Amino acid sequence: GPVVALVPAAGRGVRLGEPVPKAFVELGGRSMLRRAVDGLLGSGVVDTVVVIVPDALVEAARADLPDGVLVVVGGEERADSVRAGLAAAPDAALVLVHDAARALTPPSLIARVVAELQAGRTAVVPVLPVSDTIKTVDVLGTVTGTPPRSELRAVQTPQGFDADLLRRAYRDVNGDATDDAGLVERLGEQVRTIVGEPEAFKITTPWDLALARVLLGQAGP
Ligand code: CTP
Ligand code: MG
Repeated sequence: GPVVALVPAAGRGVRLGEPVPKAFVELGGRSMLRRAVDGLLGSGVVDTVVVIVPDALVEAARADLPDGVLVVVGGEERADSVRAGLAAAPDAALVLVHDAARALTPPSLIARVVAELQAGRTAVVPVLPVSDTIKTVDVLGTVTGTPPRSELRAVQTPQGFDADLLRRAYRDVNGDATDDAGLVERLGEQVRTIVGEPEAFKITTPWDLALARVLLGQAGP
């Protein structure tokens, strides 16, 4: 069955602090959203792309994107936006969920995620080792623990799933998972990691946007 990529792009980009919602910020002549979609289509392994945007930007997104890309309205939280995207892809057999904010993700990474799914894995996430030691803290900022760094990984997208499994996760799990695989984990299902790519970093802060522009070889916007 079809491989469908959902692209959550309905966030506001508060941490980036640009005047337009983050997915619509321009990066080397193309919006982040357009770059993310072009990467998915360029991977050669995605049949359909569904982007999820704020209510007010549906027409702007349609004008920005190639014909055939579906545009639907997102929700308050990222999970609400993914849910809206899933509802628009009832015939999907495999689903990728890929943040618009990871605009520079190499198509080869997208292809590797799909290859793992086609080899029979039902949940696949790209990860990288973390360089910093990570601590847990309480609300007052006092350290409560130091997980061994060797066991920690930073998680990227696209995350890939058997479509039925992801639908079940979104139906049966409520809560505040910050990624889609987190919901699948709570069903007790195995999530497979593959090696991610530095270029798949999430553009979150002005620092990240500056890095993205340096990587594209342009100093300014
Ligand atoms: N996202 C979404 N719907 C939401 C919130 C987030 O589709 N209600 C999307 C964002 O557009 C982004 C991805 O989820 O592509 C990852 O979220 P994040 O990097 O946190 O983006 P924002 O929520 O836009 O940024 P911020 O948290 O700084 O406001
Ligand atoms: Mg956010």
